[in-house]
Amino acid sequence: KPPGRGMRIVNWHDDRLGLAKIGKENLRKVFPDHWSFLLGEIALYSFVVLLLTGVFLTIWFKPSMAEVDYTGPYQLLKGTPMSEAFASTLDLSFEVRGGLLIRQIHHWAAILFVAAATVHMLRIFFTGAFRKPREINWLIGLGLFMLAMVEGFAGYSLPDDLLSGTGLRFADGLMRAIPLVGTWVEFFVFNGEFPGTAIVPRLYMVHILLIPALLLGLVAAHLALVVYHKHTQYPGPGRTEKNVVGYPLFPVYAAKAGGFFFVVFGVLTLMGTFLQINPVWKFGPYNPGEVTAGSQPDWYMGWLEGAVRITPNWEWHIGHTTWSWNIFLPGVCLMGVLFTLLVAWPFVERWITGDESEHHLLDRPRNVPTRTALGVAAMSCYAMFWLSGANDIIATHFHLSLNSITYFMRGAIFVVPIIAYQITKRICVALQRADRQRLLHGSPSGEIIREPNGAFHEAHVPISDDEAWTLTQQKTYPVLAAGSIDDRGRKVSKKRARWMKWFLGDNVPKVTREELDAARHHAEIGSSRSATQAEITD
Ligand code: HEM
Ligand code: HEM
Repeated sequence: KPPGRGMRIVNWHDDRLGLAKIGKENLRKVFPDHWSFLLGEIALYSFVVLLLTGVFLTIWFKPSMAEVDYTGPYQLLKGTPMSEAFASTLDLSFEVRGGLLIRQIHHWAAILFVAAATVHMLRIFFTGAFRKPREINWLIGLGLFMLAMVEGFAGYSLPDDLLSGTGLRFADGLMRAIPLVGTWVEFFVFNGEFPGTAIVPRLYMVHILLIPALLLGLVAAHLALVVYHKHTQYPGPGRTEKNVVGYPLFPVYAAKAGGFFFVVFGVLTLMGTFLQINPVWKFGPYNPGEVTAGSQPDWYMGWLEGAVRITPNWEWHIGHTTWSWNIFLPGVCLMGVLFTLLVAWPFVERWITGDESEHHLLDRPRNVPTRTALGVAAMSCYAMFWLSGANDIIATHFHLSLNSITYFMRGAIFVVPIIAYQITKRICVALQRADRQRLLHGSPSGEIIREPNGAFHEAHVPISDDEAWTLTQQKTYPVLAAGSIDDRGRKVSKKRARWMKWFLGDNVPKVTREELDAARHHAEIGSSRSATQAEITD
């Protein structure tokens, strides 16, 4: 029987594109399931929403700083001189059908996009998903993260209202504060002195062409690597370094992911409908002589703003040059430090542990206490900078002195991370101890038993096989002394030994096979199969 019409169409495509082979290889690809794997997806879907809504905005937005008098329907600004960019944003908001909705969806999507990418990055960090073989994807991710911030900033600057102009003034300050070449950089970017008439058209080109193209390319490479490496999975029953336990890409994962895209789009549309964002008509057109009261950047720029607000007023004058540390240090250097640390971390950790093996099972954050504590310390430091960016709002809302908040924050950015580090580390170690207890002695049953001699004890029930599996699947590393030889045959230097002690020293010793066997015979959990049947890796 000759193939039917449908089959002929399929065959026609297959002969030309090799779809059957691609499908066979990829459609059954297994994806593990965990809520934290949705974070990358949220970033991806909000990026798609940004592309869709962004194209709509380009139809109406005029990237020009030529001056016009406003003639639109918003009475309060009637006749006010403003740039075409600002006038077209007002038109978009008041005259274009659906324009305000799309503008607001675009803005909320931008905020969600950067937030999801940031929390996704934290997920990768805390679970050690950046380890071999995913270091390159970590670096691509960092590229995405940096571009996302610049893209958001460029978009925020386009409408040329008083708030966005104030943000640009801030960026102008950062550029000018670069020692020796600052003024040149400013002239190069603004085509002369701030604000000039070139910046909006330039940022427009960056915003709708340059960075979206780079983002698209990097996102494609990022996802291709996720498919190539296969997704990591959390330790759990049946999961090992050599398998992936989950659902096949088609139909389960595809249906879930497709559905989730519409959930993200739907939520963003509801936000765009009901939650006002960036009402530029209230701020008015940009005028370099004015600043909006209580002006705040979008959330992801808040930490830099805060850093600039709390840095003391340090300035050197050498010859004819001015070295403005009060902006250069917090602005340019802080960003440099953050990204250098993020880029370096996978390699630093690898150097310390000396681990060359591949990792597809994720770390439970408690099992790597120093990394987890460092992450929490960094987050708390970021939060302090971020709060400092709102020092004026905190002062007015809580009736506090702006100066006291500033002085407090100057101390807090150093003290709070140290406290956060110590507390997190202690919690992780305590959780490790609790896991050890559960594995060896089962879980407390809440049932108090009175013994013949009058003593009381609490009965323990064995933990499940599944839990025992999870608790035993953690790679551990020995803390080696200086001069000893590691398992790759390299001599441990003094420096590396010190770092090893810092990084690994507090870990609770892993349960050994002997301990498990001994526990089996222990009266408390006499019948427990679970602990003894669990496989001990490494
Ligand atoms: C404006 C962010 C991608 C076109 C904006 C604004 C933000 C933003 C925060 C200010 C919105 C407002 O007026 O309240 C982002 C981010 C993107 C992205 C984070 C991607 C990661 C795109 C793309 C296009 C685009 C791909 C076009 C193809 C525009 C236009 C405006 C704008 C024309 C000015 C209109 C206006 O401000 O209302 N963008 N955007 N954007 N964006 Fe994007
Ligand atoms: C995995 C998208 C930013 C590092 C993923 C996944 C998606 C994704 C969809 C698979 C699902 C998941 O694990 O969540 C994106 C998008 C980004 C972004 C759209 C933003 C623009 C980042 C950043 C980093 C990063 C900032 C780190 C610095 C990784 C790594 C994986 C991954 C290492 C593999 C994780 C694993 O297999 O467990 N990304 N990502 N990504 N992402 Fe991203």
